[in-house]
Amino acid sequence: MLAFAGEAGLTVPGKALFLGAQPHPALARWPDVIGWQPLKPLAAAWDRAGFVRVEQPAGRYPLVLVLPGKSRDETLAWFALARDHLAPGGRLLAAMPNTAGAARFEKELASASGHIASLQKHKCRAFHALDDGKWREEVFAGWRALGERRLVSNTTFVVEPGMFSVDHIDPGSAFLAGHLPANLRGCVADLGAGWGFLSAAVLRRCPKVERIDLFEADVRALDCARVNLAGHAREIQFHWHDVCEGIAGGYDVIVMNPPFHSGQATDVDLGRTFLKTAAAALKRGGKLYLVANRQLAYEAVLEASGLVWRNAGEDRGYKLLFAERR
Ligand SMILES: C[S@@+](CC[C@H](N)C(=O)[O-])C[C@H]1O[C@@H](n2cnc3c(N)ncnc32)[C@H](O)[C@@H]1O
Repeated sequence: MLAFAGEAGLTVPGKALFLGAQPHPALARWPDVIGWQPLKPLAAAWDRAGFVRVEQPAGRYPLVLVLPGKSRDETLAWFALARDHLAPGGRLLAAMPNTAGAARFEKELASASGHIASLQKHKCRAFHALDDGKWREEVFAGWRALGERRLVSNTTFVVEPGMFSVDHIDPGSAFLAGHLPANLRGCVADLGAGWGFLSAAVLRRCPKVERIDLFEADVRALDCARVNLAGHAREIQFHWHDVCEGIAGGYDVIVMNPPFHSGQATDVDLGRTFLKTAAAALKRGGKLYLVANRQLAYEAVLEASGLVWRNAGEDRGYKLLFAERR
């Protein structure tokens, strides 16, 4: 996006806000860019590169950069967020891969701003608009509303756009929840806990569980999990954490529906790394309960990590793998 900015002849402003911030060598020329990034691995990369990061965007900037996430509602909500932090006369610049619907989102932004400039390269599009005081604020208001918390249908669980499984409970997670033994006890970890569905199932089904620790990369999902698990009279800890970095050990039980996507792309290694983290964090005699798409080959990793495993059931799409550290 920054290369695009250079080619478009955009001058480097005194300060800029970067929503969905990711480090890039070209940013060395940008003296005062402040990043906001809800995903822990990307936030950590931004921090490691030495840039300033905020937990919540604040203030107004002459330039707001946007690298949106995956979902339509999230992308449009981020455009509204960018608009909210743009100084009068400022410029909003977004970049997206074509496969993420860049052309469609460029049209959306053009419909709100009345004009747009665009560049295409490397199967991506960067587009930018200058606030000339004539933007259609009612369009941004509609997009702002798309970013608000809502309920997963037919449940009391709150979610926000962009996080995992916001329209319905994931069928794989529901399959696992329905097969969790009621006699689980001790300390439990939920890896890739999302907005808390599996943790809620553990707390509901297993009265002898004393503590549950949620580990999740998306801070927005973790914040929703805090709401979704409020009222349970057990110890609950929430960790904004990259599970691929490992976790402290000593767990009696680990539950998970491991992710297998990084951004848009399928990444089975991500799930495999989750398994290795889990194997290393279980006590001797500790148990792992996981659900996975049937075609994902996780069994060899369980074996190589020293776990004894069994296939505890399958349906048309998913398999349950239950394992123990002997
Ligand atoms: C398949 S979803 C399962 C979510 C939740 N457990 C459920 O059943 O609804 C996987 C979750 O892992 C999270 N995730 C992805 N990469 C992660 C990472 N490196 N560290 C921690 N969590 C991650 C995703 O944000 C997502 O919420």
